[in-house]
Amino acid sequence: MHVELIKNIFSVGYVDWNVRDFHSYETTRGATYNAYLIKDQKTALIDTVKAPFAKDLLENIGSVIDPAKVDYVVCNHAEPDHAGALAQVLKALPNAALVCNAKCDATLSRFFDTSGWKKEIVETGDQISLGKRTLQFIGTPMVHWPESMFTYVPEDKLLFSMDAFGQHYSTSQKFDDEVSLETAVFEAKTYYANIITPYGRNVSLTMEKVKYLDIKIIAPSHGIVWRTHTQKIIDLYSNWVVCRAQPKVLVLYDSMWGSTEKMAQTILEGASVPGIEAHLIHVRRSSLTQIATEVLDAAAIVCGSSTLNRGLMPAMGSVLTYLRGLRPMNKIGFAFGSYGWSKGGIEEVERYLKETGWDILHEPIMTQYSPAPDVLEECKEAGKKLAERVLGA
Ligand code: FEO
Repeated sequence: MHVELIKNIFSVGYVDWNVRDFHSYETTRGATYNAYLIKDQKTALIDTVKAPFAKDLLENIGSVIDPAKVDYVVCNHAEPDHAGALAQVLKALPNAALVCNAKCDATLSRFFDTSGWKKEIVETGDQISLGKRTLQFIGTPMVHWPESMFTYVPEDKLLFSMDAFGQHYSTSQKFDDEVSLETAVFEAKTYYANIITPYGRNVSLTMEKVKYLDIKIIAPSHGIVWRTHTQKIIDLYSNWVVCRAQPKVLVLYDSMWGSTEKMAQTILEGASVPGIEAHLIHVRRSSLTQIATEVLDAAAIVCGSSTLNRGLMPAMGSVLTYLRGLRPMNKIGFAFGSYGWSKGGIEEVERYLKETGWDILHEPIMTQYSPAPDVLEECKEAGKKLAERVLGA
């Protein structure tokens, strides 16, 4: 099945309704691997799909045009969710040349035997005329991999943006104005928080590169196409690239016998002042995906763990490892927790927070076994101080 997005540009990718895990990203709304076919005097396919869905992609292409008439297969990104089907696709499109940059060519050669493939190696500024339409190529390194690039069609003011501006969101509709905008933005934020956050600086450089382009439509490799709310998603990205903080405090914790939980609740109570949105998150009852999404625009995140076997509670270890990899910037916080005979868990929380690059507001708050009233008072004061700092008081 295909959908004609605008005259002679077709959506021919695959909607993966049932996928729920994308290397630990919890895809509660499924995912799509978008591929686009541009039919002109010459015909180009923009990106492919995950390997298991090559047959679906080829059927979709065949419903538009004789596969022998496809001249180019543009690979904007070598990651297997977009390039996994390349070998099967190039075999089925006998006259198509692969179009990619040199880094992409080198990366693809680590996944496939590319020696028999016809190739056109392009770099930023190169273009290919299809007839009425032109493909222009813009390198966007580390958005998401080193070889990533955008393809721009000036005649339609259309940007094929690969992972950028994407969402893991399976729908039968193809455009932003056909679905709930709130859902599309939420999924775009979730995608940014969990996939793109470590590359904020690279995204900023990319935004600088493309700000001179007249962009009316953004067609990413995941999720819906932005045609009505295009400026809105560009504006949101300019906030997300710097993890621009809302006046929001998160209290993340895991607890064995309720002591760390009591401390978390008391910190939350202290931070719950007018103007602050405070959230309490038990990390064993939330997914990594949800937590990273909440963290993206939080100003302050405090993390607490009971000490288990001289170290962290496992779920807190997982959260902190994930956040340390994502490195969301411009955050403040501190560590807290309870212990029996070793303070290892709380010390590890603080070490992680420092390694993630966050400003530590003060020394860890800790208690042996159950928190006494003076410890709870310290928790409440710390929460209040955190909120005041967030509000700039
Ligand atoms: Fe959707 Fe970086 O792959």
